[in-house]
Amino acid sequence: MTDGRHGGSLGAVYDAKRPEEVASLYDGWAETYDADMAANGYRHPTICLALIARHVPRGATPLLDAGAGTGLIGEWLSITGYPEVEALDISAGMLNQAAKKKVYTRLHTLALGGSLPFADGHFAGIVSAGVFTTGHVGAEALPELIRICRKGGAIVLTVKNTLWESGFADRVAELVASDTVTRAEETQPYVSMPGEADTVPSRGLVLVVR
Ligand SMILES: C[S@@+](CC[C@H](N)C(=O)[O-])C[C@H]1O[C@@H](n2cnc3c(N)ncnc32)[C@H](O)[C@@H]1O
Repeated sequence: MTDGRHGGSLGAVYDAKRPEEVASLYDGWAETYDADMAANGYRHPTICLALIARHVPRGATPLLDAGAGTGLIGEWLSITGYPEVEALDISAGMLNQAAKKKVYTRLHTLALGGSLPFADGHFAGIVSAGVFTTGHVGAEALPELIRICRKGGAIVLTVKNTLWESGFADRVAELVASDTVTRAEETQPYVSMPGEADTVPSRGLVLVVR
């Protein structure tokens, strides 16, 4: 998947500097993304699914898949008893692939990091797999996700170590200290793509809104 033949690779997308560049790289990768990720043993959706099952009651609605991409998690949420999931992504091409899976109730082409057009407390839970990482989205996106998640709802996300160590952990500590969220769970560090050369670990994190 890293040979660039299809315009996509994690290396290329992490090097992208501007949101439009990220969107365009994913647009070009969308068609082969699922096969490429499967071939490299992509783990984030599996880890997130386990955390959702532990922290979000079966049947809770609606959920938001933030940075849903082609909808890998959406398929499994549907199978495991979460009937109403909305998908948000900056890449229309990725969302077009997600639409084909017919598992999301709504698709939103939007960017994380700024304000989002959802009411306070709208979502029962939020998942974001493989999005809080170098070159994509950082801690600046947390306040909006917290605002649109209802009190007691869980925000399940993966965070790459490079981001975690460059201010993300401090921001989470501040949100905990201000009683905005509780840090309900954190996984062991793991490599998200065992088949890739990049071995920087990530962690799964569960924040519960207070
Ligand atoms: C590695 S993919 C993960 C996709 C999906 N969650 C999965 O696990 O397969 C990262 C996704 O984040 C999206 N993304 C990157 N920056 C974003 C932003 N600022 N706002 C919304 N989505 C963004 C990309 O378009 C891409 O679909």
